[in-house]
Amino acid sequence: MREVAIIGVGMTKFGELWDQGIRDIYAEAALKAMENAGVEKIDSMYVGAMSGGLYAYQEHLSSVMADYIGQKGVPSARVESACASGGTAIRAAFMEVASGMSDIVLAGGVEKMWDVEDGTFVLATASDQEYEAYNGVTFPGLYAMMARAYMDKYNLTREELAAIPIKNHKHAVNNPNAQYPFELDLKGVLGSSMVADPLTLMDCSPITDGAAAVILCPLDLAHKFTKHPVKIKGIGAATGPIALHNHVDMTKLDAVRIAGERAYKMAKLKPLDISFVEVHDCFSIAEIIVLEELGFFKYGKAGKAIANGEATYGGKIVVNPSGGLKAKGHPVGATGVAQVIECYEQLTGKAGKRQVKNANYGMAQNMGGSGGSCVVHILEAV
Ligand code: COA
Repeated sequence: MREVAIIGVGMTKFGELWDQGIRDIYAEAALKAMENAGVEKIDSMYVGAMSGGLYAYQEHLSSVMADYIGQKGVPSARVESACASGGTAIRAAFMEVASGMSDIVLAGGVEKMWDVEDGTFVLATASDQEYEAYNGVTFPGLYAMMARAYMDKYNLTREELAAIPIKNHKHAVNNPNAQYPFELDLKGVLGSSMVADPLTLMDCSPITDGAAAVILCPLDLAHKFTKHPVKIKGIGAATGPIALHNHVDMTKLDAVRIAGERAYKMAKLKPLDISFVEVHDCFSIAEIIVLEELGFFKYGKAGKAIANGEATYGGKIVVNPSGGLKAKGHPVGATGVAQVIECYEQLTGKAGKRQVKNANYGMAQNMGGSGGSCVVHILEAV
């Protein structure tokens, strides 16, 4: 297997991009990534998207995007794994380069979520249709049940839970691509409208339009394109039960733990080696459970640790320097790619005011549904 590096990145601003269509935003991110890498021709490409059909009435994204970015004739495939579609696209591109089949591969993710009336319905198609969505349970509802179970089991207070969006919004202030780069306080979280008890509006990731893309090539060739390649040192992917009631414990996410173990094993690293991590904080409680499953904090301890300042600059590990899904935004198919771009920028010293000092290894954790799928990447500047 060949070693693989990222040689260029590009993304759109995240938010309500009402004057651009789905192809425009994918092309903006893809062409920026190609320009950044200094490549005009790619050998192959992937489009990560949860639901081009339901959100933008456009299926066949593989062909639409290859044509629109001027790469006629290249092999192209759309990749879907709910909110983990972006991370899954990078994994597919990695395998294509690692196998020796292609040299220059584009992995992009995109979602245009603002253009439909019933976005909640579209998101719910990523849950279990027969047992959850059909009976009216939405993702805020599912994560609210996880939050209640965790708060009861580990005596986490509502105020401690609010520390997650407060931290992530503070980080997003320094991210020019963030959808909601404003500071938030406890009153702002607790006083925002109730979505699914105990989760309020400020505990939820938003509806977002956006796209993100990276260019991969064999590590051996990477320095021909850039002085600052970033090696993909480890990848782990896993699936878990799609329905929440099939989780043995609602305060755990098995797919995250398994994907994390696989990524650590491939990278030959441990949690203590990681300098910062981008995690899938689709709802406040998700950040807590994910950090525990990835081994950064013991079970039952992550929520209190975040409230004590251990997950920000100067703490044990910087979590979501980009602002996370909550404040940077969550265009579901693009999220996993944007997380890897934050790692790339941090590891190459290009993160500006968000820069994590002495960053050696970065991790990106991208998840589908309520733990139905997960992809973890570990990256290193070389
Ligand atoms: N954070 C901060 N501000 C938000 C926000 C969020 N998550 N969501 C909406 N807002 C703002 C809007 O910009 C708007 O501001 P304005 O009045 O100044 O224009 C206001 O709050 C109301 O927005 P609106 O779009 O009417 O909110 P909504 O009630 O329709 O939707 C949620 C809010 C939480 C239900 C929706 O964002 C949601 O479903 N989020 C979860 C997405 C999800 O499940 N993703 C997949 C995860 S697995």
